[in-house]
Amino acid sequence: MARLSPHKTLSSLSLISQPRHLIRSSGNGAAQAFSSSCRRPDPDMKDAAIGEQPVEPLTIADIEARRAKAGKLVAPTASYSDSDMFKSPQAFKGPKARRWDHLLTEESKSRQPCMLKQAAKHLKKPGLISLGGGLPSPENFPIERMSFTVPKQLMAAHGSGGKGLPSECVDVEVRKDDVAADRNGGVHDLSIALNYGQAIGQAQLLRWVTEHTELVRAAPRYADWRCALTIGSTGALEQALRMFCDRARGDTLLTEEFSFATALETAAPLGIPVFGIRMDEEGLLPDCLDELLEGWDPAARGGARKPHVLYTVPSGQNPTGATQGAQRRRDIYAVCQKHDVFILEDEPYYFLQMPPYEPPAEEAVGEDGEPLSSDLQHQSIDEFLGGLVPSMLSMDVDGRVMRMDSFSKVVTPGSRVGWITASEQIVERYIRHAEVASQGPSGISQLILYKLVDETWGHEGYLQWLKQLRTEYTNRRNTLLAACDKYLPRHLISWVPPAAGMFLWLKVNHKMHPEAGTKSINEIEEEIYNSCIEKGVLACPGSWFKTEQDQPLTGLYFRTTFAAASEENMAKAIERFGAAVMDSFGNKVERS
Ligand SMILES: Cc1ncc(COP(=O)(O)O)c(C=O)c1O
Repeated sequence: MARLSPHKTLSSLSLISQPRHLIRSSGNGAAQAFSSSCRRPDPDMKDAAIGEQPVEPLTIADIEARRAKAGKLVAPTASYSDSDMFKSPQAFKGPKARRWDHLLTEESKSRQPCMLKQAAKHLKKPGLISLGGGLPSPENFPIERMSFTVPKQLMAAHGSGGKGLPSECVDVEVRKDDVAADRNGGVHDLSIALNYGQAIGQAQLLRWVTEHTELVRAAPRYADWRCALTIGSTGALEQALRMFCDRARGDTLLTEEFSFATALETAAPLGIPVFGIRMDEEGLLPDCLDELLEGWDPAARGGARKPHVLYTVPSGQNPTGATQGAQRRRDIYAVCQKHDVFILEDEPYYFLQMPPYEPPAEEAVGEDGEPLSSDLQHQSIDEFLGGLVPSMLSMDVDGRVMRMDSFSKVVTPGSRVGWITASEQIVERYIRHAEVASQGPSGISQLILYKLVDETWGHEGYLQWLKQLRTEYTNRRNTLLAACDKYLPRHLISWVPPAAGMFLWLKVNHKMHPEAGTKSINEIEEEIYNSCIEKGVLACPGSWFKTEQDQPLTGLYFRTTFAAASEENMAKAIERFGAAVMDSFGNKVERS
C-alpha cells in the first residue's frame, strides 16, 4: 500500500480563524457587483456558543493509530457500516442532536427499512449459506481485473491551463478476489464493488469520509453525527428536499437571491416555491434572512408556509462566487436557530478557497520572490486547513445542518460520488430514501475513489492534492481577473474577486445603457448574450440563476468561470465579452 507517512505537526494546529482575505474590502468599487439595502451584521458581534472548535483536533497520526488498533477492515459484500464505527472517541462527546420530526415530511417519516438490505447483516455470519438476497455470484461478473494510473502524490509544476502531467504516477490494480487472496491491500476488491452494496455506501470509503470530516474540522458539535455516501450533491439535494418539503403542506425553500440553477430546477417540479435572500460580496445577508422570516405573512405569499429550510452555498457560491466569512456563517446559523430553520449546506467548492487577488502590477510575492499563488504551494497542511473558513456544520450544536460534500470539483464529477454529514436521525431517513431511490452511488466509482484517496494517497496525500488544486484555481482566477482588468471598462462593469470556487460574477451597469428607459434589463441581457455568442464567447446571463423567476431583474449580471479555458483563451473571451457589452451600449470598441 502506498500510504503516506503521518503528518506530524497537525496536532499543533490552532483554532480555525477567519482568513484575512475574507474580511478585506475588495476595493475598486468592486462591491458594486452586489447590491443590498439590508443592514450589515456587526462584525464585532460574536456568539461564543456557535463555532467553537475542539481544543485537540484530530490528527492523521490519531487516525493511523486507531486503524492500527482496530486491525484490518473486514467489510465483505453488502456489509452494513456506519460512521460510529470510524469516529474518534472525542467525536462522541457532547449532547445528542435535536429531533426533526416536526420538519420532516410525511413521505420521509413513513419510510420503512428495506427488508432485503437488512437481511444482508447476516451475511457475515461464518458458515451461513445464503439462499436469501438476489446478489449474483461474482463468478458471473465479466470483469476480472481493473487497473488505472494516478498521480502518486502531487501535480508537478501544473500551471494554469493544465500543462504537464504529474511527474510521478503509480499504477493501481484491483482484482476480483483481492480480499480472499490478501492481495493489493486485501481490504477491497471487484467482487465487493461489482455487487450490490448498502445505500449508505461501502464501508471502505465511508471510513475514509468519516475520518476526513473530522480531520478537516468539519464535524459538528453534537455526538450523534454520521456520514452517508451520495450520488453527488445533486442526488443529495433532491432527496433532502423531499425529506423536508411537501407541496401539500405549502412548504417553501429559502436560498440566495441568485442560486445554483440546478438546485432551483430540483425544487420547481416538486412544487416548492423558492424565495431569494439578498446578498452582498460575502453572500446571503443574515439580517435580510431575519427580516423575511420575522415578517412572513402566508396570506401575502399566496398561502406559502413560513420557510423552514435554507439551501446555501457558503464557499464560492454558484453563480456569484461569493464566500461567507466565519462570522457571516455564525450569523446565518443564529438566525436559523431563532426561526427553527434547517440548513442544507452545499460545499462543493469548500477546499478551493483562495488568497486575495492582487492586480498583476503589484502582485504579491512570497519571501523567495515568487508570486503569492506559487507561494501557496509551500504552505503546510496545517496552514492550509487553518486558513479555511470553518464549515457551518462545524458550528452546529443542534443538528440543524446537513452538509453536502462532493468529489466532483476536487477529484472528478463523473464519479458521481459525494457524501452528506448530519445527525443520526437525518442520515437514517436519508438512507431509507436512498435504499429505494438509487441504492446509493456506483460500486465501481466507490472502489476507484477508495483506492485513490485511501490506499494510494492516504489522508495527507489527499490534503496535499486539495492544496495543490487550490493553487491551480488561484492561478486560473488570477488570469481571468487580469484579463478583466485589461479589457473591461470599469465605468460599466464591476466585479468582486472571488475568494473561492470557480466563478466570477460580472455586473454591468444597465442604467448607463442608452435605451435604459425603454428596454428592460432582460432585453439588454439578451442583446449582450447574443452578441457574445456571435463574437465567440459564452457567458451565462444572470437571469438564468435568479431565484424568484417571477420577479423582475434588479441588476444586469453575467457569470463567467475560470474552470476550464486556457490562459490565452480566457483573455480572448474576456476581450470579446467587453466588446459585446460595449457594442450593446452603442460604443464600438477597437478589436484586434
Ligand atoms: C453549488 C453546486 N452544488 C452542486 C453541484 C453539483 O455537484 P455534484 O456533481 O456533486 O452533483 C454544483 C455543480 O456545478 C454546484 O455548483
